[in-house]
Amino acid sequence: MTRSRPVVAIDGPAGAGKSTVTLRVATALGYFVVDTGALYRAIALACELAGIDFDDFERVGTLAEALVAKQAVSIEGDARGGSRVLLDGKDVSGAIRTQTLSQGASKVSAQPRVRAALLELQRSAGRSGGVVLEGRDIGTVVFPDAEVKVFLTASVEERARRRFEQLRAAGVDADIEAVKREVEERDQRDSSRPIAPLRKAPDALVVDSSVLSIDQVVARIVTRVREVAVELAAQ
Ligand code: DC
Repeated sequence: MTRSRPVVAIDGPAGAGKSTVTLRVATALGYFVVDTGALYRAIALACELAGIDFDDFERVGTLAEALVAKQAVSIEGDARGGSRVLLDGKDVSGAIRTQTLSQGASKVSAQPRVRAALLELQRSAGRSGGVVLEGRDIGTVVFPDAEVKVFLTASVEERARRRFEQLRAAGVDADIEAVKREVEERDQRDSSRPIAPLRKAPDALVVDSSVLSIDQVVARIVTRVREVAVELAAQ
């Protein structure tokens, strides 16, 4: 489909800096942000609230389909230019950021029924362009026709170190080796699942945030998007 403004897909593993980079790129361009991981986290939260085990395929799938069918999960812009996720009309953007729900989201997102239920929601949020979507499969599955695809990555050590610093700043007494194991575990699960695994799209620009500063990463992506936006506008 032809859009007048690009869809920008930013995929990559946990801890590569996707959220920060997505927000800064979108702010620089005046685009909307769609944090697709927040949708999987909201499904995990709904499971937690309903007492459903994240590994209970049948019940998790049924719950996700029911929530989407009654529009009880949604994503919208927030006042800071980011996005917020609603569950049953309540803003749960803060509540979904726990360690339990990080693992829970990783588990529920491996289920085909959950992925299928959330697919159209993500597409309708981005279809008209002028949007930056962050996730794992945006450039490969959700928007294989995205005009700009970025695979943002960083070494496991660097991602574990960042997560450790975040936890410490939040007053959590964490162990760096345990954090590293958790990062590896989540990587392994997200990359090896049979459906929509974390994988670089063949036409994605690879950006490594362990060797570039955030400013450099943002500048590189913004430059690329501006070039593509000019091409689109000229069509
Ligand atoms: O980006 P995040 O940490 O908030 O994502 C939470 C989990 O959701 C992550 O383990 C993988 C999954 N996810 C996914 O499978 N596909 C996406 N497009 C986004 C997130």
